Amino acid sequence: MTASTRLPWQPGSVPLMLAPMQGLTNRALRGLFIEQVRPDAVFTEFVRVKASARKNISGNDRQEVTSSTSQVPLVVQLIGSDIQALLTAAVTVQELGATHLNINLGCPYGRMTGNACGGGMLRDPGRLAPILCGLRAAIRGTFSVKARAGFTDPAELFTLLPLFEECGIDFLIIHPRTVKQRYAGQADHRITTEVVRRTRLPVIANGDIFTAADGHRVLAETHAAGLMLGRGAINDPFLFERLRGNAPVEIDAATRRIQLYRYLQALLSRYQELFCGDQQVLCKMKEVLCQVRESASERPVRQLLRSRTLALFAERLENFGNDGEGQE
Ligand SMILES: Cc1cc2nc3c(=O)[nH]c(=O)nc-3n(C[C@H](O)[C@H](O)[C@H](O)COP(=O)(O)O)c2cc1C
Repeated sequence: MTASTRLPWQPGSVPLMLAPMQGLTNRALRGLFIEQVRPDAVFTEFVRVKASARKNISGNDRQEVTSSTSQVPLVVQLIGSDIQALLTAAVTVQELGATHLNINLGCPYGRMTGNACGGGMLRDPGRLAPILCGLRAAIRGTFSVKARAGFTDPAELFTLLPLFEECGIDFLIIHPRTVKQRYAGQADHRITTEVVRRTRLPVIANGDIFTAADGHRVLAETHAAGLMLGRGAINDPFLFERLRGNAPVEIDAATRRIQLYRYLQALLSRYQELFCGDQQVLCKMKEVLCQVRESASERPVRQLLRSRTLALFAERLENFGNDGEGQE
């Protein structure tokens, strides 16, 4: 297989991918997105690969991997720093059916980076090289990297580009903030442009794409091969369709409210099937709501977030929908 035939998107197309997001992009949410807006690829939340545990990936992560549908490619993202454990995990997830694997070189949070994995690995090319080359040799399908713009400086990322090419990485996803920056400031897509200029690998641009206009601007400015949508898609799943020109790029407040209500309702029923107990379902719904930015619906969204029971949440959601239906 050549790199272009094994990419998880059609040659010549501009893929729009749903980002991996811990706590959010579980199999229920991915399933809803696949049904409603069909991203060109979806990612698991990061699969934590532990060196110590007997089973080096959890039972739940195994279920996430096997939940792949034939409709949309599922990319399984690994995070870890122990080469043997990562190799074992790569074999395991492929046995479970994964064909597209990705490594997280971006996570900015202490527990991960302190252990020199996730974004912490960007500081240590000597350690990263055998991990990437070892994984490449163990992975039969695509192997991609999702990276931030260096640990403290984009130069750290630029230095790694030849390594990514030499190791046979198939594509790169760039979130152009440094690890130290976490989520502060703006994603600086001039860095994405520079990565596109410096590498022959396909680059997928990610970061701060909240509207169709943002997405078109980033594509035009960076010449990236495609986009990855994170918080913007959780806020508005139809962002995929807006970017494709299949849905209006701007909608009025009443339509937004109806769309938001229907999205949250559909997600709630999927979460009730997947998660155990009202409190867990409530908690998972609130994680999604935390990403909803909507000035017109700010008050009802705040109320939903303050609901202490799932019953109250469901009642408030129903009221939110009824008010909206009245306005449609
Ligand atoms: C709640 C949350 C969880 C995330 N979890 C992951 C993850 O598991 N793996 C990963 O590579 N990035 C993760 N990210 C980063 C996103 O994939 C993405 O790179 C980042 O949010 C920037 O894109 P956006 O502005 O479109 O959201 C997470 C981000 C958020 C907000």
